[in-house]
Order: sequence, then C-alpha cells, then structure tokens
Amino acid sequence: MEFSVKSGSPEKQRSACIVVGVYEPRRLSGIAEQLDKISEGYISNLLRRGDLEGKPGQMLLLHHVPNVLSERVLLVGCGKERELDERQYKQIITKTINTLNETGSMEAVCFLTELHVKGRDTYWKVREALETTQNSLYSFDVLKTRKGETRRPLRKLVFNVPTRRELTVGERAIEHGLAISSGMRLCRDVANMPPNICNPAYLASQARQLAEIHESLTVSTIGEEQMAKLEMNSYLAVGRGSHNESVMTIMEYNGSAKGNDKPIVLIGKGLTFDSGGISLKPGEAMDEMKYDMGGAAGVIGTMKALCEMKLPINVIGILAGCENMPSSNAYRPGDILTTMSGQTVEVLNTDAEGRLVLCDVLTYVERFDPELVVDTATLTGACVVALGKYASGLFSAHNPLAHELLNAGEQSGDRAWRMPLWDEYQELLESPFADMTNLGGRAGGSITAACFLSRFAKKYHWAHLDVAGTAWNSGVNKGSTGRPVPLLTQFLINRAGVEQGEKSA
Ligand code: BES
Ligand code: MN
Ligand code: ZN
Repeated sequence: MEFSVKSGSPEKQRSACIVVGVYEPRRLSGIAEQLDKISEGYISNLLRRGDLEGKPGQMLLLHHVPNVLSERVLLVGCGKERELDERQYKQIITKTINTLNETGSMEAVCFLTELHVKGRDTYWKVREALETTQNSLYSFDVLKTRKGETRRPLRKLVFNVPTRRELTVGERAIEHGLAISSGMRLCRDVANMPPNICNPAYLASQARQLAEIHESLTVSTIGEEQMAKLEMNSYLAVGRGSHNESVMTIMEYNGSAKGNDKPIVLIGKGLTFDSGGISLKPGEAMDEMKYDMGGAAGVIGTMKALCEMKLPINVIGILAGCENMPSSNAYRPGDILTTMSGQTVEVLNTDAEGRLVLCDVLTYVERFDPELVVDTATLTGACVVALGKYASGLFSAHNPLAHELLNAGEQSGDRAWRMPLWDEYQELLESPFADMTNLGGRAGGSITAACFLSRFAKKYHWAHLDVAGTAWNSGVNKGSTGRPVPLLTQFLINRAGVEQGEKSA
C-alpha cells in the first residue's frame, strides 16, 4: 500500500474514489457540503430520500456525481457529530477500507482525516487511519495453498488534511504510522507462525534477517551451552524437556549520536510453545499456547519500527526463546533451582514457567547498565481474568516510568492499566525450602507473578507489561493483534523527543 497526504478540495480530486463523512441524522460534514454544492444538491437529495441515515459505519457508494471529477464518491456514516470518538473513528476507517477493497477502487482520496475527533489532532488522525488500514488488510496465509486474493485491491490511499500548514505534520504521521504498522506486521507474522516452525532458533533467525537490512542493528545469540556457563539455571530448567534448544536473542540498536547513551532494554517472553510441562495444561485451546511468545514478537516488531524510524536512542531488545514440554528429562514440581542471581526457587508448578525464564534474563541484562528495563510477557491467565482483552497489565514500582508507559498506551490506542506491586503480595511467594516459590496461588495471580519478577529487577528502573489478554484474539478472529508494538514504539518515540502533532491544535 502506498500512502500520502494532500490538502485540496474534494470536487477537484481526480481519483477512483473520494471518501467523505455524513453525520447522523442525515447531516453533511463540511466536505460533503462542498460536494453537495458543486453537484447542485445531488447528495442532500439522496439523504432526504432516506438513502443514508449517517449511522456509524453505514456506506453508500455513488457513481458519476455531477460536476465531480472522481469516478466514485463513497459516503460514510459517522454517527452523531459530537459522539465521534477514537473507537468510532477506527471502526469507520476499518469499514471504509473493507468497502474500498471490495468495490474495485484501487486508489482513493480520504477526507475522513478532516473529521473532528474528540481530543485528537491531525497527526493522530492520519497515523491512526494508516495503521488501521494496514491492520485491516493484514492476513496470514503463507501456509495456505490457496490464498484469498482480492480482484482489484486498494493500492493507493491519499489522506486529506484541512490546511497546507498541516502537510508536514501529516507526512510525519505517515512516516511513523508506516514504521509502526510494519513492526506490527512482523510481530503478527512471527506470532501466528505455528510452533513446529516458530521455535527459539526461528526467533533468532527472524532477528538476524532484520539486522541484515538495518546497519544500526546487531544480533547475537546465547544457546544452552553459554547459558550454563552464565548459570542461567532457571531459564535452562524450563527448556530442558524440549528437543528444541533454548535460545536467547540479543538485538542491539545503536541510534544515539553520542553513541554511549545508556540503553533502554526491552525483554520479551518467547515461549514458542507452552504445554505447561509436567504440570500439563488441559487440552482445550492448547494450540493458542503457540502465542506464548507474544512478548518476544512484540519486541522484535518494536525493534523493526525503531530501525525504520531511525530514532536517536540506544535500545537493546531481548527475545527469551524457550519451549516448555513434558519429558523424562523435564523439570518437575518440587525441583529447587538456583537462578543466575543466586536466589533459589522451589518449583510448585511447571506451568508458571514464564517467570523462571524472565528472572534470569532480568539478571543477565544488568551487564548493559540499562537506563531502564521493560519486559513484556503473556505471563498469566489471571491477567486475562482481571483486564480482559482491552488493556495490558502494567506493573512498576517506579512511578515516572509507569506514567510514561500509560501515556504511550493512551497516545497510541494500545492501552495498559496499572496494577499494584505492593509488598503484601510478596508474602504469597514464601517457600519452606527455598528463597521463594514460583507460585503465588489463584488470588491476585498476575500480581504475584509480577512480584516474583520484581525480586530480580532491583538494580535498575523496571516495568512489566502482562500482555496475556491483548497479544492475540481467540475465536473466529483468531490471530496475533500486533500488540504491544504501538505502545512500546510510542514510548520510544517519546523517549527520543521526536516531534509529533502540532502543539497548537
Ligand atoms: N502462558 C501462560 C499464561 C497464559 C494462559 C496466557 C492463558 C494467556 C492465556 C503461563 O505460562 C501460565 O501457564 N500461567 C499459569 C500460571 C499458574 C500456573 C500460576 C496460569 O496463568 O494459569
Ligand atoms: Mn505456563
Ligand atoms: Zn507461559
């Protein structure tokens, strides 16, 4: 798909289709009014006859509107003007894209970016429209022998902005939107890949491929032999039952002009399959545990977006690749592990494996003297119970970092909700035989998991993002969502101090 911005009037566009909004009930947007005037009331006549009420997502495709140069005009219902919010805006764009893609318009000029969306500026509207477009055109069909092809797919989309002054902001929105959506696409492709293909070594190969395109990125890996030398016994224990070797992939992005700025470290849980191990999961929906590498997919996607935007910061991304399987060699309930930090853990459930992998990575990254560390993981079913599929769970003892991440979530529409990390919850991890257990019980399960991690993240500012509910969709729309790439990328954009929307609007 090709995207651009432009500032022009609707009747002068020579395109296959122009897209304009109509509010409910039967009220023309400013742009639609311009078209109505030039076409001598053609559009208002239609509305009067009851062809379009303006309900959100309603579509009416017109051909050869008098005095309009474009072949088609797509009228899009936008609901009540004062109720147009972010969510509705996204839904309207999605419907529009699907209609354009199905009705033979290979290019279009979209005026929906001029609608008034509560609290949002042109930068946001253009970027969001672009990301929504890319996301709704996504499909994962590399492993289908017959691909679902559209006959005349949408190829080129122009977003119109109200004034020429806003063209610069619009172009920046396109640049950022393209980077974020290509990061999301990589995240989704890697996450959707089945676990017989996507194993820890596959995660490493994907990172290497990215480093081949981007000079600013270098990739190295640590396999089981080196993990043993580093005494990452907890990480190793989780992968021991699998034939697939555990591989930790380290992606170093150097973008800071000064070169030696402290790096931001992103860690992603990369369980390419989580069967539960000896504490085997029930069979229902177990296939979805291929998505237990959603954190790692989010990190590799964010690294891609970062490389494309060439942000002037230093970032290290770590993919904690591992597979949790039962076998005669697998770790078991009752085992006591000595983690890389020296702290000991009594394993009470081999299905609480994510924290056992991540705790050693949290210790490992101390060597980078990080500015801050954010880990992202499909860590607990309890987080899905608490927050559902709309918000990721955010945990951090460092208030400024927590607020930065929450803000990045709001800005990018990839939201997180803060959960507590209070000391009271730590007590639930006490063990009679080791420094702690890996199981906090059913109550507050996502919090005790985060508390467990916090014990290994004392040497730097740290936040944990539980994406168990947000990284993929179940049911008919099963598939990776590409989250938390927008949140993490937005966080990095903000960190880099790159300009975004106009401050005045
Ligand atoms: N990867 C799962 C968490 C998960 C489960 C995410 C379902 C999304 C949907 C994790 O490794 C796990 O199994 N957690 C257990 C922890 C429990 C044994 C303390 C869980 O949530 O049941
Ligand atoms: Mn598990
Ligand atoms: Zn898991």
